Amino acid sequence: MKLFRRPSSDPLWRDEFSVSTADERYVNRRQFAKFLTLTSLAMAAGNLWIAMRGWLYRQPAYPRNLVAGVDEIPVGGVKLFAYPEAQDTCILVRTPANTFAAYSQKCTHLSCAVYYSKESNRLECPCHQGVFAIADGAPVAGPPQRALPRILLEQKGSSLFAVGIDLGERA
Ligand code: FES
Repeated sequence: MKLFRRPSSDPLWRDEFSVSTADERYVNRRQFAKFLTLTSLAMAAGNLWIAMRGWLYRQPAYPRNLVAGVDEIPVGGVKLFAYPEAQDTCILVRTPANTFAAYSQKCTHLSCAVYYSKESNRLECPCHQGVFAIADGAPVAGPPQRALPRILLEQKGSSLFAVGIDLGERA
């Protein structure tokens, strides 16, 4: 805080704002550079935050659980199992095409248990006649709008393992 005004013919504002008209463009350039720097820092901080959120809320690592032996299930046969937790019931089907498909057994409408219909080769829900395709778990009839979560399988020798869940956006 200035207590004394220096003896000068210049007005007080010239002391307080001591940038000459000729130098104004440098001030603007300096302000622009400051703006760019601050904006860049803000964007970098935002990107860092997004990356950290992605890392913190990443998909959980699923366990690798033995589901069944390949020879244990005949063509058209079914085995129920739990994955990844004991309360998460799933259904494994050996399809007529001799492939294995596994899905969560919980219907995506109101969570009734779906079962495999060998006659129609589809997964059916008895509660409201919801029907899902065996190939990809997509809803094909009834009220369900979302596909059944697919259990990812891995075959090693004569054993089938559940290794993950595909919650993909299959309609
Ligand atoms: S609960 Fe499965 S169709 Fe309604």
